[in-house]
Amino acid sequence: MALIEFDHVFKHYVGSNQAAVDDLNLHIEAGEFLTLLGPSGSGKTTTLMMLAGFEAPTSGAIRFEGKSIESLPPHQRNMGVVFQSYSLFPHMTVAENVAFPLSVRKLPQDQITERVRAALAKVRLEAFAQRKPNQISGGQQQRVALARALVFEPRLVLMDEPLSALDKKLREEMQLEIRRLHRELGVTMVFVTHDQSEAMTLSDRVAVFNHGRIEQLASPKELYDAPINPFVASFLGDNNMISVVPGSSGDNTHAVVKTSDGLNLVSRQRQDLSGAPAAAATLCVRPEFLRVASDPSALGTSNCISATLVDLIHQGDHWRLVAQLTGAATGQANERPQWFAKINPGALPQGLVVGQNLCLGFRPEDAWVF
Ligand SMILES: Nc1ncnc2c1ncn2[C@@H]1O[C@H](COP(=O)(O)OP(=O)(O)OP(=O)(O)O)[C@@H](O)[C@H]1O
Ligand SMILES: [Mg+2]
Repeated sequence: MALIEFDHVFKHYVGSNQAAVDDLNLHIEAGEFLTLLGPSGSGKTTTLMMLAGFEAPTSGAIRFEGKSIESLPPHQRNMGVVFQSYSLFPHMTVAENVAFPLSVRKLPQDQITERVRAALAKVRLEAFAQRKPNQISGGQQQRVALARALVFEPRLVLMDEPLSALDKKLREEMQLEIRRLHRELGVTMVFVTHDQSEAMTLSDRVAVFNHGRIEQLASPKELYDAPINPFVASFLGDNNMISVVPGSSGDNTHAVVKTSDGLNLVSRQRQDLSGAPAAAATLCVRPEFLRVASDPSALGTSNCISATLVDLIHQGDHWRLVAQLTGAATGQANERPQWFAKINPGALPQGLVVGQNLCLGFRPEDAWVF
């Protein structure tokens, strides 16, 4: 049995005619690290607030170990929470804030002292124990909130962008720390982030939200390698896209598609394409799979789209190349998509100049059609 079940959950806020959460069905397994990822306003915080008990679903059920938790107030749900706008108690010191969940559970004072010390050490804030929240930075406040959520060793921890105010280095350190805590304590974690690399670092599974619904729920690798639609494909990692229609039939492993002006391209076969009517579709190629050459014969593939080089940016470990597709391969009359390529320093053709024509190539197995 799943630890948590959302069963046809809807949330309509008063005064809004759109559902913030729209028929959510979600099972969270005991011990897993589940991340909710999605654009601003897609319903991630609302989902977490309903689980924590700060918002009630308009309809549907939320169950914990099979039992409905609707009637339980937040403090009886025994969940550690770090919310976007869930501030610390301003009149208490850092140490008192972290001690709070233990004091309300009536632990002996010596145990409280020891646990608070250990929790503050984990988030590297021992030196700030006696300060008030308004005497520390935003990032330090986030770490106090994290310590307070973990200190009573809850079975379930909910975190809404808990690392968003930290600088990159500290954020990466805290990600590793959260990963370690998750493994060691065996707690179930439900985590919200905007940051796809953070989602990939931490999660067993990621739920990609859009308009209050889950577009896809899968492991980070599966989401990246086998997204089920263009939204997921472009939300996790970059993706280049072009409108196509299914062309001649291809074979078991490959599909042939046509751009609007008749350029044939070959991609991986998708079951839902074979035998489908000639409906509009989208071909996607990730930037790391694009090859670039001035001369199509140097590409080593017949998939070749012509483009103009718009920009060439050095990003340290790779080059980011921006290219405007030229007339022949663009879809609608005014559509001139820009594609991005990620090229290893050693693989960059010599003598590229902005404004020149080039060919973008890709292997059929590196392209998807939706
Ligand atoms: N208290 C509220 N009253 C009315 N509408 C709300 C309320 N809270 C959220 N909403 C609306 O519900 C939708 C979902 O909001 P939610 O906060 O869950 O999004 P989110 O995915 O967490 O976004 P973000 O990434 O910006 O934090 C949005 O359209 C938002 O405007
Ligand atoms: Mg939010």
